[in-house]
Amino acid sequence: MAMLNDRSSVLALLKSRKSASAKAMTGPGPEPEILAQILSIAVRAPDHGKLAPWRFIRFDGDARKAMGDVFAARWQALNPAHGAETVEAQRGLFLRAPVVVVVVSTAAPHVKIPEWEQVLSAGAVCQNILLACAALGVGCQWNSGWIAYDGPVTAAMGLQPHEKVAGIMYFGTSAVELEDRPRPDAAAITTIWGK
Ligand SMILES: Cc1cc2nc3c(=O)[nH]c(=O)nc-3n(C[C@H](O)[C@H](O)[C@H](O)COP(=O)(O)O)c2cc1C
Repeated sequence: MAMLNDRSSVLALLKSRKSASAKAMTGPGPEPEILAQILSIAVRAPDHGKLAPWRFIRFDGDARKAMGDVFAARWQALNPAHGAETVEAQRGLFLRAPVVVVVVSTAAPHVKIPEWEQVLSAGAVCQNILLACAALGVGCQWNSGWIAYDGPVTAAMGLQPHEKVAGIMYFGTSAVELEDRPRPDAAAITTIWGK
């Protein structure tokens, strides 16, 4: 993939960026140095107070399967009436992509910086990841799902009780042509104060 080298190509990328879908993802995943580059771009997110209120947990190889076993067991405990097919679907969640990175918001009360702003910064980290992936030709989807909100599951991922999943980022190669979706009309959601 050609690297961006002028303003018009940057704008073209920003105007056309779209996510891959974890449901239609395959290999290869990003090489380690490419993923390192993506995450180093991610941490350039705006961050009031330089708190860096986020961190990453990477899952690749067998760790995706081990985590899936946790998802399956927890799903079974929460939904004993569900059949084997749905349980296996949970087991396979992280196996859909070669690499998964959980972006963790470590936002906490602070004397000066509102927690809300720290949480927003974690969202900007996730968006930076999407933009970096678009520039590098890596398929990526920002995801959540029940596994992002279930206490025992997030604890098994390695989150502390006060931490939250900002995004589960699936990295790979889209098996299908990326389709765009209708985008909101920015003008239609803009009001001009005083008019
Ligand atoms: C915080 C957050 C969580 C999301 N979780 C999911 C999800 O669990 N499953 C899903 O299909 N899309 C989810 N999405 C939406 C996709 O990331 C993405 O917005 C959508 O696929 C369209 O992508 P695009 O606008 O980047 O092309 C989530 C988005 C955000 C911001």
